[in-house]
Amino acid sequence: MSFKTIVVTCVFISFLFSCQSESPSVKIPQIIPVPYNQTLTGGFFLLDSDVGLSYDDTFKVSGDFLQNYILNGMDMLLRDTNDIQFILDDSIENAEGYILDIQPYNIIIKAKTDQGAFYAVQTLRQLLPPEFESGSFSDETVSLRCMTITDAPQFSYRGMHLDVGRHMFSVDFIKKYIDALAMLKMNTFHWHLTEDQGWRIEIKQYPKLQDIAAFRTETLIGHYSDQPHQFDGKPYGGFYTQDEIKSIVAYAESRHVTIIPEIELPGHAQAAIAAYPHLGCTGEQINVATKWGVFEHIYCSKEETFEFLEHVLDEVIALFPSKYIHIGGDEAPKTQWKVCVQCQERIKTEGLKDEHELQNYFITRIEQYLNSKGKQIIGWDEILEGGLAPNATVMSWRGTKGAIEAAKQQHKVIMTPTSHCYFDYYQSTNPDEPTAIGGFLPLEKVYGFNPIPSELNTDEATYILGAQGNIWTEYITNEDHLEYMAFPRMLAMSEVVWSQNQNKSYNGFAKRVEQFNKRLDELDINYANHLYEISGELLSENKSTSYQLLTILDDKTIRYTLNGSDPNTSSAIYTNPIPINSTTKLKAAVFDDEQRLGRIFSEDITFHKAVGKSITINKTPHPSYSGSGANGLINGISGSETRYGDKEWLGFWGDDIEITIDLGEDTEINTIKTRFHNGNGQWIYAPNKIEFGFSSHGIDSSITIPRTEKQIMDIIIEANVNTRKIYLRIPNYGTIPDGKQGAGNKAWTFIDEIIVN
Ligand code: ACM
Ligand code: ZN
Repeated sequence: MSFKTIVVTCVFISFLFSCQSESPSVKIPQIIPVPYNQTLTGGFFLLDSDVGLSYDDTFKVSGDFLQNYILNGMDMLLRDTNDIQFILDDSIENAEGYILDIQPYNIIIKAKTDQGAFYAVQTLRQLLPPEFESGSFSDETVSLRCMTITDAPQFSYRGMHLDVGRHMFSVDFIKKYIDALAMLKMNTFHWHLTEDQGWRIEIKQYPKLQDIAAFRTETLIGHYSDQPHQFDGKPYGGFYTQDEIKSIVAYAESRHVTIIPEIELPGHAQAAIAAYPHLGCTGEQINVATKWGVFEHIYCSKEETFEFLEHVLDEVIALFPSKYIHIGGDEAPKTQWKVCVQCQERIKTEGLKDEHELQNYFITRIEQYLNSKGKQIIGWDEILEGGLAPNATVMSWRGTKGAIEAAKQQHKVIMTPTSHCYFDYYQSTNPDEPTAIGGFLPLEKVYGFNPIPSELNTDEATYILGAQGNIWTEYITNEDHLEYMAFPRMLAMSEVVWSQNQNKSYNGFAKRVEQFNKRLDELDINYANHLYEISGELLSENKSTSYQLLTILDDKTIRYTLNGSDPNTSSAIYTNPIPINSTTKLKAAVFDDEQRLGRIFSEDITFHKAVGKSITINKTPHPSYSGSGANGLINGISGSETRYGDKEWLGFWGDDIEITIDLGEDTEINTIKTRFHNGNGQWIYAPNKIEFGFSSHGIDSSITIPRTEKQIMDIIIEANVNTRKIYLRIPNYGTIPDGKQGAGNKAWTFIDEIIVN
């Protein structure tokens, strides 16, 4: 930029904006993940064809990225002058931190590493118009508000996972996914490459992995719990060639993203065993799996298996520069090991106690091999069973117990608990959502995740490296759907792992997501938009009940109807909880000044005799399925037919439960209705019976519940009594029988609204 232009420009700009630029009402441009500190300093920098950019090889990745971004964004090649400068600053403590200083004449990026500078560039990117993403920006200048941003991540491990075993995605798409991670300052892509349903990485020494393990004959249609199972009859498969992998790894390096490949062992290995049956315990010829779940064909612990795995890992190591290799370790049933002569021989000769110690032997041997090649292992938290391999990092997915145990043993941990990190779960209770594996993980819950378990002290907490979102693809067959599941939850996860807790606010985040959606549109990234959804709750106070509606964006209006009609721009505006005195169909939606923005929220409130009364349960529901607490069972609202993870169902794992409802005074009641979920594929079983009774007698009756494969079991108790109290005892189903998903584990009990008439 010539000096003359600068002067003219600045006068012009300050004339245009001077009245705004110092005013407190000026909005600070919004960035995801929110930076550590962002201060407006007054004035503007004009980005136009006079601007130049200088950087040397120290900042090659970040400099190249910015040069190309502006070239593609506004069709402008920056000159080779130093209006935009990269400065090496060793005084910046965090290697991934940066200072971005936008001044009227210069933009200065200071960092200790190219990676830090790259994150400054990603911040600068979000200060530029979203149209830059698609190259559709048509002006010749952009004025950037002057500001100083000082920023650094909270956690060093910031990742996203992707399962390509169940369904795979094109090389271009994998690069697009990596791009999105990098934009959000995530630094790790955990690539889950091998599964029971498909082996996706070319291994030259074992051609049958390509010819056989990479293909399945057909795929389960619909949900696993839909019985009987049906199949599409269509072959499915493919794999990434080593050349393709090299190009993806190089691409990731140009975005400062490390790819951690996952080669699953000893379980989730059915595809490999289908290709090379001698790797299993039985030697029998099996097929690449065509449905989902956990399979008993796992690698045998004989010598030939280790030879195979070492050869495979040799080729993997040569492709991936990552310090870490993920070796799986999860969900490996020991059924075959228990009866395999060679595995039992191994247990004896190695002096092991049982098959769990054999799992530890298996993992430790692989760890020793990888350590000898300069690599470290990561494993799912099952690698804690039978003792941890000496240098292993644990990926805690079954809650946080594994994380706590590992950190206390001074092992590094990456947090991916299903409760907050499984982006294959439903993100809304709306019945229009695409079929998902189950669960319920809305955006707000992801955002509220604290990767440091509260059980850890300050020293132990240092072993928590960070967190990652996981995307398993059983039910995700195409790229649009995958993006829908990933976004905007990936935005929330980026803030969980990057931003400081004191800068986090879900309300503020939601507003930034609304703005960020324009950028996703320009990037042609599909996303779920539940920002305009309404949540509701029945309130009971002093014998009166009312219904509260909430929406996350406070600059929008909720309108509602009580007559079953769809709300429109002339419907009543919601201001205070709506009194509810009878069975009501409530509909509501979020509006701006002109139109409805989101889907219609609809709630059927059944005003039965227990609504607003008191209820106690002898056990607390499982934290992941605690719905609206005990009161949610008598709030007049039934749960979803399919989503037992919503806020109406309560889930208990293995417990016998006792419920007492106090109606406050003697009340004539005829029937008590409730229902149980019975999704056996998800380990959920309706109980075999309910015992019940009333005030004066206590529990003295019971009804038997027939065993069927129905997803939902409706129950009616004919009561016909005058009673103040209702007692229900619901024994847990017990242990899941052999041959079923989760065999040997305790069953879940899920109960919905208890309707008293
Ligand atoms: C897992 O979800 N099986 C790690
Ligand atoms: Zn064996």
